[in-house]
Amino acid sequence: MPLADIHCHLLPGLDDGSRDWDTTEAMLRRARDNGITRIIATPHADPAVKAFPLDRYKETLDKANALSLKLELGITLYPGCEIMYAEGVTERMLEDARIPSLAGSRHVLVEFFPDVKYDAILSAIRRLAYVGRIAVLAHIERFECLYKRFERITELKAAGAKLQVNCGTIIKPPGFFAKRYIDKLLGDGLIDYLATDAHSDGMRRVNAKEAYDAIAERFPGSERLFDAKGIL
Ligand SMILES: [Fe+2]
Repeated sequence: MPLADIHCHLLPGLDDGSRDWDTTEAMLRRARDNGITRIIATPHADPAVKAFPLDRYKETLDKANALSLKLELGITLYPGCEIMYAEGVTERMLEDARIPSLAGSRHVLVEFFPDVKYDAILSAIRRLAYVGRIAVLAHIERFECLYKRFERITELKAAGAKLQVNCGTIIKPPGFFAKRYIDKLLGDGLIDYLATDAHSDGMRRVNAKEAYDAIAERFPGSERLFDAKGIL
């Protein structure tokens, strides 16, 4: 089953992800071993703090695609970034194409601090929708305001958001209650995408297959969480 990864920090020199090209190669090889054929390369973008280095980003992405081709890994990389949401600035940067959406789609990967207020997330989703964008909320399991508040999660989805959870959380939930929370999200079909959010080939490595294997039997149809539906 070919998988897609919509959230991965495998390009070197752009953020706290891959340290160098050797690491990127190791991450690509591990992605291949995971059955991944499509990756959206999503370095951090913090538009309220500094400009996203779009030209350097494009060059690095091209180079990574050339490397994947040379190594015959059967993996295609697509543009994207993980945006630390800032009201107004994010929308403007997207409008001006100064930061990439996910693979050129309407979807944008946005993150917030773990203690973000619920209203701030909802407002961000609506503002993005107003400029024709679909917010994909990165690693929603980190947001304290959503923890076990399923009515809020449902409301976010009704407002048009898509929800992404990290594979690492699926493989090793941080405690018994967190596991129950994640299981309920999976069981109720509230999660749209699982992604690796890989930063290295070490602790935070590409781990999609492991996550899929951990849930495939208990939650039939889990492969849909890796198909990047609507994006790729
Ligand atoms: Fe990330």
